[in-house]
Amino acid sequence: MKKLTIILATGVTDSLKNLKIALENQGYGILQAKDGPAAIDLYDQAKPDLAILDLSLPKISGLEVLRILKKKCHRLPVMVVTNHVSTNTAIETMKLGAYDYITQPFEIAKMLDIINTAISPDIEGERRIAINPNTFAQGSFEADTIIGNSREMLEIYKMVGQVAQSDAPVLIQGESGTGKELIARAIFNHSLRSKKQFLAINCAAIPEQLLESELFGHEKGSFTGAVTKKIGKFEQCDGGTIFLDEIGDMALSAQSKVLRVLQDQVFERVGGHESIKVNVRLVAATNKSLVQAVKEGSFRVDLFYRLKVISLFLPPLRERPEDITLLADYFLLKYRHKLRKEINGIAHSTIMRLTQYEWPGNIRELENVVQSAIVLCKGDVILPEHLPIGEMMEKKKRPMAVVPAEEKNYAEMFEDILVSIVDYLINQDVDDIAGRLTDGLEEAMIKLTLQRVNNNQVKASKMLGISRNTLRSKIEKFNL
Ligand SMILES: Nc1ncnc2c1ncn2[C@@H]1O[C@H](COP(=O)(O)OP(=O)(O)O)[C@@H](O)[C@H]1O
Ligand SMILES: [Mg+2]
Repeated sequence: MKKLTIILATGVTDSLKNLKIALENQGYGILQAKDGPAAIDLYDQAKPDLAILDLSLPKISGLEVLRILKKKCHRLPVMVVTNHVSTNTAIETMKLGAYDYITQPFEIAKMLDIINTAISPDIEGERRIAINPNTFAQGSFEADTIIGNSREMLEIYKMVGQVAQSDAPVLIQGESGTGKELIARAIFNHSLRSKKQFLAINCAAIPEQLLESELFGHEKGSFTGAVTKKIGKFEQCDGGTIFLDEIGDMALSAQSKVLRVLQDQVFERVGGHESIKVNVRLVAATNKSLVQAVKEGSFRVDLFYRLKVISLFLPPLRERPEDITLLADYFLLKYRHKLRKEINGIAHSTIMRLTQYEWPGNIRELENVVQSAIVLCKGDVILPEHLPIGEMMEKKKRPMAVVPAEEKNYAEMFEDILVSIVDYLINQDVDDIAGRLTDGLEEAMIKLTLQRVNNNQVKASKMLGISRNTLRSKIEKFNL
C-alpha cells in the first residue's frame, strides 16, 4: 500500500515540530509548507491524504487555505490548529468543513488518534475516509436540500434564482430521478408565493378520465361517480404554485384547459358553466421529449411553446460524476443514524464503482443504493461488496421501471424494483420472503387504487378485478 501523506502547514515558527516527528515515526510521509500558497501548491502536486493547517499562516490565512482545499476536494480531511481559542473561528472553521479544530497545547497522542481515525487503513487494506458531518451545513438534511457542486448544477441554481420571483411558467426536463420535483419546490420556496400552497400532481399516475376533474374539479352529477361537487387543484391552489409532473402524459383535452389557464387564468369545472378565475403559477416537468410528443400529435404545440419559454434541463447523474461522490457522502450522513449504523465513510474503491456506473435511475437510485449499502455494511466503512446489487455495475443503461406500465413486462419491472429488497432480506436470513413481499405488494396496490378513486370501494374493486367482499376484507386486514 502506498505511504499516506500529510501536508503540515505550520508557518515560519515550526510550532508543530514534535507532531511532525511523531507522525513520521508512525510511517506517514510529511510535506511541510511554510505559508498558505505553498500549502496549496503542495496539495496540487502531491494530492495528500490529510492536511494540518496552522490558522495563522503567512500570506493566505489558514482559514482561506481550508476553504480552497475543501473546494478542490471536499473529502480531504483538514485539521486546523491554533494558539488562540475563539468560538467564532471554531465555528467558522467547522462550517468550512474542517475535520477538527485543535487548540495548542495539545497532547500528541490524542492528535495521532484523531489523525489515525481520519485516514488509517482498515483491515481490508482499504483507505478509510471519514466524512465530517460539517461538510454539509446545519439543517441540510431536510427534504428540500439540493446537493451538487458541479458546473451543471451551479447553472441550475442560477436559473432558479433568476426565474423564481416571476410568475412565468417553468418547464423542467430531465430523466427520472434527476431532481425535477426538488427543483420545482426550490422555485416555489424562493418565489413571492412561498407562503401560499405548492401542490404537486403526477399526471402519469392519474387515469385520464379523472385527471381533469382532479385538476379543475367537477359539478355534482357531471359524470357517473360525480356524486358531489368537487373543487379541483387549480382552485385550491389559488395564489400558489401548481406542479404538473409528467405533463407529457397529459391527455389533449386536459392540455387545452391548462393552456387556457395559462392564457386567461380562467377555467370551468368539469360539467360546469361558470368561469372560475385563478392566479396560479405553473411549474411542469417531464422525462419525455415534448418535441417528440408534439411530432406524434400527443402534445399541443401551442402549450409546448408557452411552457418552454423558461425551461431547465436537469443533467443525468452520470454526466456529473463529481456530484456522485458528494451525494453519496450526503446520503450516508443522512441515513446512517436513521438506520442506526455507525459508519464513518465510503471506501475509495466503492466510490470508483459508483462513479463508473450509469445510474439510469439517477439520484433516486443513488439514494436507494446508499441506504441499502448502509444496511448491508458490517464494518464502519462501505466497501464495494456492500453495494446492494452485485451485478448492478455490469447492468448498464437499463432503464428503471417507471409508470406507465402498460407495455411493460411486469416480471422484469418488479425484478428491477425488488432486487435490492430481496438481497437485503436474504442477508437478514428471514424465512418468509414470499409472505412479506406478496402482502406488501397487495397492500400497496390496493392502497394506491383506493387513493386514485377517492376511496370509492365499488370503483376500486372493479378496477382491481376483485369482489367488493374481498376488497373489504383486505382493507380490514391491512388496516387501510
Ligand atoms: N441535487 C439533489 N440533492 C439531494 N437530493 C436530491 C437531489 N436531486 C434529487 N434528490 C433526491 O432524489 C429523489 C428523486 O428526486 P425527484 O425530484 O423526485 O426526481 P424526479 O422528479 O426528477 O424524478 C428525491 O428523494 C430527492 O430528494
Ligand atoms: Mg418526479
